[in-house]
Amino acid sequence: MESITLLFTLLFATIIYILFETQRKKSNLPNGSIPLPGPKPLPIIGNLHQLKGLSYQGFVDEFTKKYGPIFQVRFGANPWVVINDYEIIRDLLIKRGSIYSSRPFNEASTRIYYEGGKNIGFSPYGKYWRAMRALAHQALTQKMVDNNYRFDPTKDMRLSLIDLLATISYGQKSENLSQKIEQMIFEFGEILNPRNYYIEMFPWLKYFPFLANRLYSFAYKAKALVREISTELLKDLRQRLQENDGEENSFAALVLKNMDISSTIVTKPYEDSLELDEDNSFTFDEVDFMNLNNSFLISGTGTTVSAIRWSGYAILVNHPEVQRKIQKELDECLQGNRFPSPQDDPKLPYLHATVKECFRYRPDRNFLLQHSTTKDDIYRGYHIPAKSTILVSYKSAHTSEKLFERPNEFYPEHYLDENGQLRKYDELRDPWAFGKGRRACVGQHLAERNLLTTISYVLTLFDIENDIDQTGNPIKLNLKYVESDQEGKEPYKLRFVPRSGVTLEKIMQMN
Ligand code: HEM
Repeated sequence: MESITLLFTLLFATIIYILFETQRKKSNLPNGSIPLPGPKPLPIIGNLHQLKGLSYQGFVDEFTKKYGPIFQVRFGANPWVVINDYEIIRDLLIKRGSIYSSRPFNEASTRIYYEGGKNIGFSPYGKYWRAMRALAHQALTQKMVDNNYRFDPTKDMRLSLIDLLATISYGQKSENLSQKIEQMIFEFGEILNPRNYYIEMFPWLKYFPFLANRLYSFAYKAKALVREISTELLKDLRQRLQENDGEENSFAALVLKNMDISSTIVTKPYEDSLELDEDNSFTFDEVDFMNLNNSFLISGTGTTVSAIRWSGYAILVNHPEVQRKIQKELDECLQGNRFPSPQDDPKLPYLHATVKECFRYRPDRNFLLQHSTTKDDIYRGYHIPAKSTILVSYKSAHTSEKLFERPNEFYPEHYLDENGQLRKYDELRDPWAFGKGRRACVGQHLAERNLLTTISYVLTLFDIENDIDQTGNPIKLNLKYVESDQEGKEPYKLRFVPRSGVTLEKIMQMN
């Protein structure tokens, strides 16, 4: 019996595959354009076999050598265009942003978020995304970040970030929910794990619900948590607003008071609200409110923690001379009596340059979130089909000898001018870790501020030093093996040694 079911499943899969392939082959190349270079794909799996245990970065580096800085591969049924050159990235993501700013369909996200997956980060380039993005910008402008959101690095790093983001999103601290939010963020991380792109690669899997449900069981777990957490946070916010006669100035309260929502979840079909649409009218409802706030929580926590942990601390411990320069700047500005605030920014150029250099020298990863094209395009004679997944590796910018005096060294001076002042923003040289163009990270101001705050608080009070071995000798940190996207990652230990004159009493008096 079992073998008959298997036989039918295979037969059905083959028919669906042939239908997909026939549809795909019908598309002809537009006038005069040529196909992108790239390895020849096999039926059904495309070029998956060529990943052969390589990391994404290893794969991109190897194939760039063979096919050049822009090439095409197939992962299952899906065409991917891989870009590994900063000038091409700028041309496509920034100059042709209206074509290259969509996102590929992501099955897991549709299973986590409310209403078939409406959310800012994964939604196609269109009416829904524009409305959510405009709102997100209001919450996260440089001014809002500098005046309203204070990150307290003296608490546990991850929990204090969750607290801060919950405060932005739902106007309250999340004491009893912090653990659950942390769990949700962990489950959510699985969405971006390439080993979970089954349905994107093999869309016909959808026709086998029992398989699809098994493959996406992590998404269902995250979904239950997302629902529980956001319902509770929203209920609290509503209750507070009722008790205080609507007197609460948080961003969440403002949005909630001014939006057209009902107290029950409004159902809107996913496709309706995501399609490209010239009509700008948009009703922002309770589902949108929760999905936007959850996106902040999810996008803002893990990324920042990992930037602090291994772009910040892991580099600084190996560069005591940079620590001393930052401390000198901080001491001259603050006299050791207080912690810096955004008003001190102009007096702390070396600190700012160091944070930028951390993102350049050792970003969390060298890839942006995947983009997707909204229509066919011709670039340098190559045809780039609509709905291609665009994989952008910005390593070429961060390691360019043309752009940086010492590309392979940690050298904050890259971002200082000849007078020791912070250089003006430069499209190619400023770190790419947040992306550029229309889909760039909307939380960049907040993330940078959190990093500046953390490093400046820590270095006001402590020297960051290596762990020591049994004989008291420092164990030099080998960045190659420290937590990172690369293989062989290991947790690491540091010591925060109080600077001379720093006592607990003194810390308690500082603000
Ligand atoms: C060090 C910390 C962070 C890093 C490195 C980071 C990086 C990124 C990157 C690479 C993207 C995709 C850009 C692209 O596809 O072109 C992104 C998107 C996004 N980030 Fe961040 N991010 C950080 C912190 C934050 C914070 C604090 C928030 C919010 C509070 C946030 C909210 C978002 C959102 C909502 C998107 C989706 C934007 C869209 O699709 O329109 N991120 N981030």
